[in-house]
Formats: sequence, C-alpha cells, structure tokens
Amino acid sequence: MSTTITITGAGGQIGYALLFRIAAGDLLGLDEKVRLRLLEIPQGIGAAEGAALELQDGAFGLLEHVEVTDDAAVAFDGCDLALLVGARPRGPGMERGDLLAANGGIFGPQGAAIAANAAPDVRVTVVGNPANTNALIAAASADGVPVSRFTALTRLDENRARAQLAQTLAVPVDTVRRVPIWGNHSATQFPDVSHATVAGRPVHEALEAIVGDVPAWLDSTFIPRVAKRGAEIIEVRGSSSVASAANATLDHVRDWVHGTGDWTSAGVVSQGQYGVPEGLVCSFPVQSIDGEWQVVEGLEVSDWARQRIDASVAELVEERNAVKALGLL
Ligand code: NAD
Ligand code: LMR
Repeated sequence: MSTTITITGAGGQIGYALLFRIAAGDLLGLDEKVRLRLLEIPQGIGAAEGAALELQDGAFGLLEHVEVTDDAAVAFDGCDLALLVGARPRGPGMERGDLLAANGGIFGPQGAAIAANAAPDVRVTVVGNPANTNALIAAASADGVPVSRFTALTRLDENRARAQLAQTLAVPVDTVRRVPIWGNHSATQFPDVSHATVAGRPVHEALEAIVGDVPAWLDSTFIPRVAKRGAEIIEVRGSSSVASAANATLDHVRDWVHGTGDWTSAGVVSQGQYGVPEGLVCSFPVQSIDGEWQVVEGLEVSDWARQRIDASVAELVEERNAVKALGLL
C-alpha cells in the first residue's frame, strides 16, 4: 500500500518542516509507504528540488517516490492527500485577512486541478492563509468533489490553547482535552473552554483555584493570547510559525485518516450547524469517524460563547463577500 501526498509550496518553510516528518512515518505510521508530489511556482522549484535531494539522502524506507513540478495537473494526479501550504505568509502588523487578495487567486485553479486529477476520495487540507476562505475558494472550484473533502487547518490554534491551559495549570498537555476552536483562523477565533477537562475534571474548576475570576481571565488573558499567538510568533521570531504549523498539519491529517478518540477542531464546510451559514468554512468541534469529519452537535452554547462565535462567523461572511468582489468565487 502507498499513499500519494501532494504538498504545495513544498520549497517554503512549512514545506521543509513537513516533508521529512512525512517520509519518516509521522503522518501515516510506519506501515504505509508514501509517494510525494512537490508543487512549486517556478521561483520555488530550486528549493523544492533541493529538498527532494535531501529526502533521497535521508534514505527513508517508507518513501517510494518524490516528484517536483510546477504543473498542478501533474502534482495532483492520483493524489490522496493534498496539503495546500503554498501561499504568502503575513508579516508584522498584518492580519491574515490582508492576504486574501495576494493568496486567494492560488486556490481556485488548485481546486479545479484537484477535481480534474486527484483520487475521488481525496482529502484536502488548506494551510495557506487566510486558510478558511482559501479552502472555501478551493472547494467551490472543485466541481464534482464533495465539499466535505475540503478543510482548513485550525488545529494549531487548538494545540496552542491546550498548551496555554496546561502551562497555567502546571499539568501535562495531554491531560487537557476538549478545547475546540470556533470560527476563523484569525484574531476573532473563539477558543472554547466551556466543555474542557483536565485529567477528567472540568477545566473551569481547576482554573478557579489558580486564576480566581475565570471569565475575566479568559477575556483578558487566555483568548487574546491564543487568538494572537501567530502574531506573537511573528514578532518574536521575525517570521511566521513553521514547525508548530507543520506539526498541527500532521495532527489534523492523521486524525482525519485514522480517526479521533475525542473532539478536536477543524475548519469544515458548514451545513448550518450551530447557526453558521451554510457553505462557510468554519472551525467547529469535530470528531473523525470512519474517515469523515463530523461536527460535534448538541453542545450547550452560552450567550457569552454565542457572541464570540457570531463575531468570528461575521468575519468569515465578510471574507466571503470580499473574495466574491474580487471575482474569486
Ligand atoms: P513560505 O513563504 O516559506 O513558503 C511558501 C511557498 O509557497 C514558497 O516556496 C512559494 O514559492 C510557494 N508558492 C507560492 N505560490 C504558490 C503556488 N501558486 N503554488 C505552489 N507553491 C506556491 O511560507 P510558509 O512559512 O511556508 O507559510 C505558508 C503559508 O502557510 C502562509 O500563507 C502562512 O501564513 C500559512 N500558515 C498557516 C498556518 C495555519 O495554522 N493555518 C500556520 C502557519 C502558516
Ligand atoms: C499562525 O497562526 O501562526 C499562522 O497562521 C501564521 C500567521 O500569520 O499568524
């Protein structure tokens, strides 16, 4: 058995952080061979070819084949897993939505190339920003591919949220569960601790003992820290997150393929759940069951949470209107 994985922007930073972990089995496990297709624009081909040489030198037993191309039809031919990373990152002082005009145009043609060439059950994960709306554009351009095959990465936000809680509570991060991200991968996102647990106990209870006024701490400290973590990384590091983004991409795709034991977060095409307008790519609490993302339904949403979800969904609507105005939808 082998899986064909297409990585766009493979010559870039996140591409470089992804390729070697995929070849080492971190995505699909140690029993699954992989065939890699590296899609770049002509300016990035040299970097992707260099990475391909290094992949060869890694002598990875699981790696069957590597191909570097600037032709989307070749890159997506028979593709099982498409990781759409190739896009410009933001710089200091920018919001991710500021990238719509620069990056949106990449995703329509790639969606069409996926529809024309990829495996019928292809799974697409959009990482390039603004990820939710780029995924919307790709899905809308992929005639014949069910929209459920298109997702946007918000797992990095969830990982950040769990890590912040673990640090505050001084507990191992894997004891913190059920911290879904709602809405957009942007500063309006809502990391939701309402249903979160730490070692099986409600996070609210555990937090109270440490921070006192939990709602005030969520508003003033936790939510902004998580929602603006991408900007914090850019400020401190000088460029946007790379290894943590690659790591979250692997988490997302691994769970999609192999299933989740519990809830996680992913940007999926809304079917109207929780009042989110149909068709928007919105992050929800999700579970992967039988290889499909399913929104966790029936959760109680307080008025306080509802306001935050609505604000992020309003931004997704604005982004959709903006790409319509740009002729990208
Ligand atoms: P980078 O500039 O290092 O790499 C981007 C690569 O994409 C470049 O090599 C470029 O040549 C290539 N590229 C551009 N247009 C392309 C196209 N049409 N087809 C194929 N390749 C193309 O950037 P990076 O640090 O790797 O980040 C990539 C994207 O991921 C950015 O948009 C960034 O904002 C986003 N990102 C998203 C998340 C998330 O959680 N969703 C996290 C981190 C970064
Ligand atoms: C992140 O969350 O780190 C990425 O989306 C990069 C960015 O622009 O914040």
